[in-house]
Amino acid sequence: MNSPGLSKHIVTEQQDGILRIVMNRPEKKNALTIAMYSALADAIEQAEQDRNVRVLLIHGAGDSFTSGNDLKDFLETPPRDSTSPVFRFMRAIRDAKMPVVAAVEGLAVGIGTTMLFHCDLVYAGAHAKFLMPFVNLGLCPEAGSSMLLPLLAGHQQAAELLLLGEMFTAEKAREIGLINDVCEDSQVLELALEKAHRLTRQPQASVRLAKAQLKAVNHELLQRVMAHEISDLLKRLVSPEAKEAFSAFLERRKPDFSAFQ
Ligand code: COA
Repeated sequence: MNSPGLSKHIVTEQQDGILRIVMNRPEKKNALTIAMYSALADAIEQAEQDRNVRVLLIHGAGDSFTSGNDLKDFLETPPRDSTSPVFRFMRAIRDAKMPVVAAVEGLAVGIGTTMLFHCDLVYAGAHAKFLMPFVNLGLCPEAGSSMLLPLLAGHQQAAELLLLGEMFTAEKAREIGLINDVCEDSQVLELALEKAHRLTRQPQASVRLAKAQLKAVNHELLQRVMAHEISDLLKRLVSPEAKEAFSAFLERRKPDFSAFQ
């Protein structure tokens, strides 16, 4: 195992053409700090240059995939512009040329759910839970979810999941097409690894070409949508509603949005 970039909380392991990227901060449900985003982006970008890597496999340590952005980071050092590692990671996973497989056990919150839109094969444990709480936090959708979710599930399902920001099950995630399959929690990493191994045995030029073709139709539009989302999110991150939501989480109380229009 080695840790690229700045973060000991992102661990990578390369074996048999597969680069495993582990979000490894289980005591905080693998909440992603700026340093972790940076290390994630580094890991993907380095893998893209490495001829020995054919497939990326991303998963979490402990009982969660990830609880999303670290809210303490968001309160104290919110991203200031589109060069932030938060957005570098989103662009890196969006633009990855090699296939990306995800194994989701436990919680997949915020970017934990939205990064899955950019993965190619996603497997989840039966008790996995998904949540996009952007509106609940006074923020707005990110990582292309404002475009990719309605494309996948239709406007009404997307509106329900994004405007109400309610948690949903692995079964629901499969129903809307966000994940490929559900299995026992203890089997999910094994299943994802098996699929990743199968991908490494396929003709690589064809795998990459097929992936590029699958993504080609929407790619330019997705780039534009993500640029707009980032510009909206940068403003929302310093809004009074977001500050109230982040502070409430850290103070273990319910947020009070009644003072805001
Ligand atoms: N940012 C910072 N810390 C986080 C975190 C996050 N996103 N998610 C969890 N943690 C921390 C908790 O503060 C707690 O730390 P502590 O032990 O030092 O008090 C620890 O991780 C365990 O989390 P806890 O809340 O006790 O676990 P839980 O099982 O009761 O709830 C969650 C898990 C994920 C539902 C809950 O922690 C949560 O809602 N987190 C925020 C998710 C979020 O809004 N993410 C941002 C999306 S944009």
